[in-house]
Amino acid sequence: MKIVVIGATGTIGAQVVDALSAKRHEVIRASRNADTKVNLDDPATIRALFETVKDVDALVSCAGNAAFKPFSQLTDADYQLGLRSKLMGQVSAARIASEHLRDGGSITLTTGVLAMHPIRGSASVSLVNAGLEGFVRAAALEMPRRLRINAVSPPWVKETMVKLDMDPAAGLSAADVAKAYVAAVEGSQFHHLLLAQFSRGAEDLLLRAETSSMRCPACGAQMVLSGSIATADLQDTHHVFACTTCGLSYFNRGHIPVNGRAVI
Ligand SMILES: NC(=O)c1ccc[n+]([C@@H]2O[C@H](COP(=O)([O-])OP(=O)(O)OC[C@H]3O[C@@H](n4cnc5c(N)ncnc54)[C@H](OP(=O)(O)O)[C@@H]3O)[C@@H](O)[C@H]2O)c1
Repeated sequence: MKIVVIGATGTIGAQVVDALSAKRHEVIRASRNADTKVNLDDPATIRALFETVKDVDALVSCAGNAAFKPFSQLTDADYQLGLRSKLMGQVSAARIASEHLRDGGSITLTTGVLAMHPIRGSASVSLVNAGLEGFVRAAALEMPRRLRINAVSPPWVKETMVKLDMDPAAGLSAADVAKAYVAAVEGSQFHHLLLAQFSRGAEDLLLRAETSSMRCPACGAQMVLSGSIATADLQDTHHVFACTTCGLSYFNRGHIPVNGRAVI
């Protein structure tokens, strides 16, 4: 496949490029400073990219900025940054890509753990991530020409935690996170939408989980039932399955992958 990766030089993006290249895909590396220039904050540059690079099968975005600051210090400009860059930048990229991708292609955006697990300082980032997840769920219903749209929701990445002087033990390596993007690009079984997120401590899962007949869409290993989430309608329980090897988790109903929900 011919795949445009926006954010190709970043902590996550560089691993996504490596993982896709290792699978013999043709990868176009894009960012503000990469060889293929694009600025998510400026839709004209996204249009220019797709008018220059033709016959693209998939768009992956691992980019977009938002301000992480205490609530009382977040300014209008801070909120505008997240809305313009990470939220509307990726929404614009998805809209423009949907006009240019080849039939049956895919769009994969990046949200993040803070959508579902906010922490102090994350108000603006959580707003943007949750907005993206809502957009992807809804847009998936109307994708033209058999296009699929997915979002990967990474947890804290080990390499980022090291840069921020945090203990990286609880994080997942960027190389492992990249597996979710590969699954989203290659995984035709997801139909329209997969919000993938990695659970931590995949090795623990075997100790307390029920095995299932499912295979991990990212690495093919055994998946286990790692939890259940009841919805407002108590008859409608979503099961969360997790891979025992790479930790990819996702919601699943009746052992058949369904159009997605974010998972923990
Ligand atoms: N790292 C984590 O722990 C983590 C966890 C959850 C979610 N995420 C999300 O994952 C995404 C990538 O994170 P990361 O840690 O890999 O970031 P990163 O290391 O800072 O890399 C960001 C990448 O995006 C490009 N970029 C930045 N702004 C851009 C723009 N306006 N237009 C086009 N490209 C742009 C950068 O290249 P240029 O500077 O050349 O443009 C770079 O290639 C972010 O949206 C982040 O919120 C990260």
